[in-house]
Amino acid sequence: MLRGRAHEHARRVARAARSRGLSSSTRDFGSPAFWDAKYRSGRAPREWFAGADGVVGAVEAALRQEPGLSVLESVACLHVGCGLSELGFRTAQLFPHVHVTNVDTSAAAVEGLQSQGAAKYEPEVLARSKFVQDDVLDSKLASETFDLCIDKGTLDAVEFAGDAEVGRFLQGIHRLLRPGGLYLQVSTVDPGVRDAVTLADVPWARVTWTNWTSDSLAEGASEESDLDLWIYKFTKSVVHV
Ligand SMILES: C[S@@+](CC[C@H](N)C(=O)[O-])C[C@H]1O[C@@H](n2cnc3c(N)ncnc32)[C@H](O)[C@@H]1O
Repeated sequence: MLRGRAHEHARRVARAARSRGLSSSTRDFGSPAFWDAKYRSGRAPREWFAGADGVVGAVEAALRQEPGLSVLESVACLHVGCGLSELGFRTAQLFPHVHVTNVDTSAAAVEGLQSQGAAKYEPEVLARSKFVQDDVLDSKLASETFDLCIDKGTLDAVEFAGDAEVGRFLQGIHRLLRPGGLYLQVSTVDPGVRDAVTLADVPWARVTWTNWTSDSLAEGASEESDLDLWIYKFTKSVVHV
């Protein structure tokens, strides 16, 4: 990230994290071990910086409007760095043709999410939800498996680990998407702060972003965060590059 604005961004993330009882050291957020310890201790937030209901509309819009997605009869969706977030369940609930694989480096997170969902969601939603412990930096999942990847705050966390990890993370997502697939990332990182490594290190066909704050969150999770939200869309080329 760019230095001055990145510092301000880190300060705001730290303040938001502190207000939710998490460590104020943003360096921790780039460490999978930090998150795993939080999940194992039962002190991790259910939803990081925005509720699933507040942002599922962005996933819904992509599924209805993106040319490569709206025509599919069945959609394989990767929910990367799921933590305890119900964004994958909410997506599967809204769209009966979407199959969601919830993935996190933390086994405690995927187990926690699975039991949380079992108590709350319909059997047909659960039947289309999978849970896999996996590290996207070195994933055991097959290449070109997913039409869509959704992420709330995971790339943001990886960015605190450094440029090398960001590059490997994005290459991992790119490999897992089928040609023409979409990576939809819900973020608190302002596009003016995201740097060239994040946006250009992988041969995406297209990278776009839109602000997703005030109106969109008014009916959702605005009380959970004072951070602006952005929706980034990374589209994989339909031809191999
Ligand atoms: C900021 S939390 C966001 C959690 C969840 N998406 C939410 O919105 O509440 C980041 C999550 O990414 C996971 N994570 C970090 N690096 C990862 C990687 N390389 N592969 C898969 N998950 C990862 C962490 O374990 C953590 O659960």
